Amino acid sequence: MQIVLATHNAHKVTELGAILGAAVEGLELLGYDGPEPVEDGTSYLENALIKARAAYAHTGVTSMADDSGIAVEILGGSPGIFSARWAGGRDNVANRQLLLSQLGDVAQEHRAAAFVCTIALVGPDGETSFTGIWPGRVATEEHGEHGFGYDPIFIPEGFEVTAAELEPEVKNSMSHRALALEQLVSYLNAIAE
Ligand code: IMP
Repeated sequence: MQIVLATHNAHKVTELGAILGAAVEGLELLGYDGPEPVEDGTSYLENALIKARAAYAHTGVTSMADDSGIAVEILGGSPGIFSARWAGGRDNVANRQLLLSQLGDVAQEHRAAAFVCTIALVGPDGETSFTGIWPGRVATEEHGEHGFGYDPIFIPEGFEVTAAELEPEVKNSMSHRALALEQLVSYLNAIAE
């Protein structure tokens, strides 16, 4: 089965490819070169559907898109769908610095957060979606060189290091994206039977 992956984020492509490559044989990932849809949804699902629908309309091939972000409990779930541009532009360093300064010296037990990923799949058989949640907390300073986005300031539940200090294989085995993909893979396997 061919699937178009509708994202320009090279890190996501690498992570999705690594996870899917191991899990699904014959799943082919293509680069997307169609028009750029406006992500003006009000939820992860709406935004993921906007991107997957645009890719499907352009290619005619079953398309998947993810929308993800970090939800910080004490901020009422923000940055959430605004994670990529939290500090105004698509600047990961500025986004992290802003979030760290917003939390200031809030105590560890009140720094709960979760990465959330919703994957939408749009094709001739209709639309479906899968959501993965990776709980943890926001660190007080940056650590680690791996990953992207908020990884250097996210400490996953059960760890005392940030997601950016984990080996990519470790992150890819438990992340919000991995959890959503696991569901997608089960779904694809079930409909292939
Ligand atoms: P999207 O491309 O609209 O889904 O934006 C997602 C944004 O959420 C990214 O730009 C990152 O800032 C953040 N994000 C999502 N997943 C991760 C992750 O696995 N690690 C770190 N940051 C992430």
